[in-house]
Amino acid sequence: EEVDKYVTPLVVPPVMPQARGSLADHIDHYAIGVRQFQQQVLPSGLPATTVWGYGSTLHTRSFHYPAFTIEARAGTPVRVRWKNQLIDRKGRYLPHLLPVDPTLHWANPPGGASARDSRPGFRSTPGPYSGPVPIVTHLHGGRNSEESDGYTEAWYLPGALDLPAGYAEVGSFYEEFKGKFEDRFGDAWGQGDAVFQYANAERASTFWFHDHALGVTRLNVYAGLAGFYLLRGGPADLPVGVLPGPAPRAGDPPGRKYYEIPLAIQDRSFHVDGSLFYPAGRTAFDGFRGPYIPDSDIPPIWNPEFFGNTMVTNGRTWPVLQVEPRRYRFRLLNGCNSRYLILKIVTRPLAHRPAAAALPFCQIGSEGGFLPTPVRRDQVLIAPAERADVIVDFASVPVGTELYLINEGPDRAFQGGKAGTDYSPADPATTGQIMKFVIETLTTPDTTVPPSQLSLPPFEPLGKASRIRRLSLSEQKSASLPHVGPRQMLLGTLDRNGAPVPMRWDDPVTESPALGATEIWEIHNLTKDAHPIHIHEVQFQVLDRQQAGRAARPPEPWENGFKDTAVAYPSAVTRLKATFDRAGRFVWHCHMLEHEDNEIMRPYTVG
Ligand code: C2O
Repeated sequence: EEVDKYVTPLVVPPVMPQARGSLADHIDHYAIGVRQFQQQVLPSGLPATTVWGYGSTLHTRSFHYPAFTIEARAGTPVRVRWKNQLIDRKGRYLPHLLPVDPTLHWANPPGGASARDSRPGFRSTPGPYSGPVPIVTHLHGGRNSEESDGYTEAWYLPGALDLPAGYAEVGSFYEEFKGKFEDRFGDAWGQGDAVFQYANAERASTFWFHDHALGVTRLNVYAGLAGFYLLRGGPADLPVGVLPGPAPRAGDPPGRKYYEIPLAIQDRSFHVDGSLFYPAGRTAFDGFRGPYIPDSDIPPIWNPEFFGNTMVTNGRTWPVLQVEPRRYRFRLLNGCNSRYLILKIVTRPLAHRPAAAALPFCQIGSEGGFLPTPVRRDQVLIAPAERADVIVDFASVPVGTELYLINEGPDRAFQGGKAGTDYSPADPATTGQIMKFVIETLTTPDTTVPPSQLSLPPFEPLGKASRIRRLSLSEQKSASLPHVGPRQMLLGTLDRNGAPVPMRWDDPVTESPALGATEIWEIHNLTKDAHPIHIHEVQFQVLDRQQAGRAARPPEPWENGFKDTAVAYPSAVTRLKATFDRAGRFVWHCHMLEHEDNEIMRPYTVG
């Protein structure tokens, strides 16, 4: 069935309501639940979609996919009680919306099936997992202490009434981090929740938060668990009025105009009844096994990647935004599970690809805040989890003009190279389009500083590195895990001869920087695809990339700031430099969520 495009206005996510006003403790408090609800993701006239979303537990109407935005202020901590409220009206737990593969190494609470689960008393027949849903929230880009980072094995279940007696199953690190948090901050965690505190000591940045439960992140995020966290103020921000604004604020009247807008771009697929489609078998890829048959003994089968057939921005398929002929600031997030996006603004959405850009983007920031200098780009390549803070100037565009934000990334894995030459761009009729801009009349003059005259906040590069770590991303035959496919990709180290030493999630920690150490991490990507590598707890600098036998290439001009996620291209070494100045246990991983969920993630420790 066709889904009409550009019939629904873009949603600009409002501000997440605080739990109580700013009290004497100088902390911004939130109580944020995860709930299941219906949302009109498809255009009206088509069925609503059951999604999961975050919202303030004090304001039922604040539940939305993606979440309302957390507005954070530099130097003022944010404390969030994250509540797992995936329960029905009678207090019984809700099953997952999507097929959970119980054969992966995953959060695996009792009550469901698992090939690995040998704990006494738990059903271990293979089949779909139908128990309560584990969650844990990660603030992506934030630099916080370990117990607030959303460690993937610190997950927890909803406080449901029908959990088995004595049931308090949580991830293996939950109790440790609960104890540490309660000692440090004196705020107790309850059943079905965890309290995290974010120091907001970073540079002003575009962060986002999303679920991170082990082996089920791809499904929890796909169901809707993501939102923006915008950190403003401090020495690494610009004074109000320099850049296009306002962004939403608490207490805004309805219909207020915004000139600063975050855009979370995600691919999704739907069943005709409006429900989210996520493949439960691998036939779409290599015919290896499947499809999944309910009530048979064939468990759901993990997919190595996911590519949807519709584009959803801020929770609506192909929205439209009326813009004035003036500058706008867009905070772009690639929130897709696996898909790389190559964004461009054009006049004709169905034009031959690659299409000619109608307006450039002026990129002013990346994951870790403002760049040293603005960078003009006709197109923005943005990998899963990356952010780009851009200014688009519509001033020269005649009123009534329609412009389109399109995508020329591939409808499959990305290897680098040029659209149309090295790979076919996304289908121009569907995933090759994202949203439409319609130029309307100017209401008030634009007094912001033109990008060419902008001077961005001072940028202090990291100090000298004391150590180089050689790390690998390689593909292995996986005889030991026949259910995941004939091959498996893994992170690991490199031995003296340069051969990969692949490691799984459960293998001993091999990366343990000293507290305060600055290190270079060389990611040797020996696979055929590009992988977005994310390291928790740090904002790194990209030093260079090098293919065997070639000279090292400097980072792209838009990679000269701080980043927390960067593309490791195939058959190349990507060198990242970071200072590890928070003690504890964190993770690094590929941010293609299907990869992260199946062992392409490693723990690391600092100090
Ligand atoms: Cu955006 Cu480890 O995550």
